[in-house]
Amino acid sequence: MSHTKKLLRMIITGKYPELRMRRNRKRDWSRRLTSENSLSVNDLILPIFIIEGKNKKIPVKSMPGIYRYSLDKLNSVVQSAVNMGIPMIAIFPYTEKKLKNSLGTESINSNNLVCKACRQIKKKFKYKIGIMCDVALDPYTSHGHDGIMVKGDVDNDETIKILVEQSLLQASAGCDVIAPSDMMDGRISSIRKALDKNNFKHVQILSYAVKYASSYYGPFRDAIGSKNLLRGDKKTYQMDFKNSDEALREVTLDIKEGVDMVIVKPGLPYIDIIQNIKKRFKIPVIAYQVSGEYSMISNSIQKKIVDKNVIIETLTSFKRSGANAIITYFADKIAKDL
Ligand code: PBG
Repeated sequence: MSHTKKLLRMIITGKYPELRMRRNRKRDWSRRLTSENSLSVNDLILPIFIIEGKNKKIPVKSMPGIYRYSLDKLNSVVQSAVNMGIPMIAIFPYTEKKLKNSLGTESINSNNLVCKACRQIKKKFKYKIGIMCDVALDPYTSHGHDGIMVKGDVDNDETIKILVEQSLLQASAGCDVIAPSDMMDGRISSIRKALDKNNFKHVQILSYAVKYASSYYGPFRDAIGSKNLLRGDKKTYQMDFKNSDEALREVTLDIKEGVDMVIVKPGLPYIDIIQNIKKRFKIPVIAYQVSGEYSMISNSIQKKIVDKNVIIETLTSFKRSGANAIITYFADKIAKDL
């Protein structure tokens, strides 16, 4: 019998009454001592919605406790994240309808809301906190899709060209982590090459390598103002939720193209995918607990169906499955409890 097999047998052969599993659970100190996973503030990434204007803090209707902040209010939100020790924020813009068009050209305006926010945050906070920005066109297109439409579908290669420009602009505005969320094929290698060529060798790429076409994104689309605009669905570029091998192929490709970390999105319904990826590829994996997951939990807490401990229980499940960190709208709400 091999050494590991023997070891495995030893672990599983004790029996009642000599072996009592409850012994280790009896006292709090012992439970702490034998715990296998834990959640800390270092595991949290806080998404922040921003909006044009002054002195604005506008509630997102479909997301209890979540607001869109104007830039004059942004620093204090970031400051409190810094104070809590949250390592990174993710910035998402609400774009006014008049700035949207079919090509999403506001994405490559160097003075767009995201770029202004990056410059402002970088200036004030330097490297005290990481800034992550989505690369995709959906906040900026009149049809709500992540790329440029040609003959009724998002055109992969035309879209990549504009995503590359968007990435370079964000990098020059001070974004630390470029996060392509568009699901175009081949975009990581194009973005990596462009960043390297333009002196952004150290800007990281966190790809949404595994992003499912999901009904859990509804509240987010409301938050960025694309909900009522979206024509059709995103099934020709985001993944089918029935698939799991395909996720490994997506990650393999992104690794080959030079990605630094990968996202699995949504989170909870896909922890099997997180576990698979982590087992096979020794690469940082980030879970995205998306807007629908956030709102379902928040509403249930508000209605007293469950208590607020479900937040930490759920976030810890991501750690157990192998995630290194979690993008979660709960980040600033639970950081103090950790
Ligand atoms: C944009 C993007 C989406 C989310 C993050 N980036 C929505 C989508 O693909 O339609 C969803 C995040 C959430 O629901 O919290 N490409």
